[in-house]
Amino acid sequence: MKIVSLVGARPQFIKEAIVNREVRRRGAWHHVLVHSGQHYDINMSDVFFRQLEIPRPDHFLGVGSGLHGRQTAEALTRFEAVLLEEKPDAVLVYGDTNTTLAGALAAAKLHIPVVHVEAGLRQSPKTMPEEINRVLTDHISTRLFCCSDLGATNLKEEGITEGIEVVGDVMYDLYLEMAPSFDAEKALRTQGLREKGFLVVTLHRDFNVDSRESLQEILQGLNLAREETGLEVFLPLHPRTAKRIDEFGLKEETKPLRLAEPLGYLELMALVRASAAVVTDSGGLQKEAYFAGKRAVVVMPDTAWRELTQSGWNSLSEAKADALARHIKKALSPLEHPGDLYGTGQAAAAIVGAIANQRSLS
Ligand code: UD1
Repeated sequence: MKIVSLVGARPQFIKEAIVNREVRRRGAWHHVLVHSGQHYDINMSDVFFRQLEIPRPDHFLGVGSGLHGRQTAEALTRFEAVLLEEKPDAVLVYGDTNTTLAGALAAAKLHIPVVHVEAGLRQSPKTMPEEINRVLTDHISTRLFCCSDLGATNLKEEGITEGIEVVGDVMYDLYLEMAPSFDAEKALRTQGLREKGFLVVTLHRDFNVDSRESLQEILQGLNLAREETGLEVFLPLHPRTAKRIDEFGLKEETKPLRLAEPLGYLELMALVRASAAVVTDSGGLQKEAYFAGKRAVVVMPDTAWRELTQSGWNSLSEAKADALARHIKKALSPLEHPGDLYGTGQAAAAIVGAIANQRSLS
């Protein structure tokens, strides 16, 4: 059996890393890895391949940045050519990026079965690019692997009843597997931070950073939290956010904060583990905080990871300075960890096992 796996953005490199390991461990099938090139900077892409020992992609599509239509269209066109050449038995896509949708669409149109890892997540507003990508991908997938029961329920409510399996979260598998390599002491020393003396903050969502008003409110909220709690604010900057801070003339607001380049997986996880709490609009980091036993303030109107907000572990904050500072203070109070919400670290094994044991994926 030959399977083509498509990745392109940071969260997908992380998910591919653990699935790829499992495929190699078992010799499960001929795995062809394709990188769309949606993320291309060294610290947005290469570092993940190196740290997580992901094999070199067999095809690199060089799609790059651009408006959504162009980015998706380039990935679609170039990926279709790869599929015509490789003629795989199935295509594996992860998550909710423009790369995910392009890959699923190219495959479905060629009648190649689509396997979607991290299926069934739903969140409002429906107009979010990631939400559009995940809904459409789910509806053209033949195998849908969900992280929790909620994902399966969401799919059934939309009339998708076949090919669904709840396996847990591959990101948890990777977290557990890589935990021995998280070097907190070194990461703290490199960044000049003190154990539990800082917040880890990441921001990149269009609705937070592409509006001057939201970005300014968030930065002011972080400054307020810093003054009120005495914690440093450590903010590795996504390139989109760095650009907007420049464009909007918000440099002054960032002066009291500890800005950094985007970090590799190992450094970021090490720092999350050593932090006081996390503030993020990343789908992945809000869960990784929980894996690390840290609470997260999620700067979004809604989250797909409802189990975490329903249990009170994470909280949603508006992009308003006062609200954000209030949520951050609350996140510093101790709370009983909600236990295993996204499997037990066996998701990749379940996915690879299920695919390998199936004669046809269509
Ligand atoms: C994308 C995904 C998002 C995911 C995120 C993880 C979509 C719609 N969004 O958002 O779901 O959570 O990745 O990071 O697919 N840029 C660089 N260097 C890079 C990559 C991007 O400078 O290596 C710049 C681009 O020029 C662009 C901006 O970052 O200005 C946004 O990149 P893009 O890939 O469009 O979306 P993300 O915001 O990264």
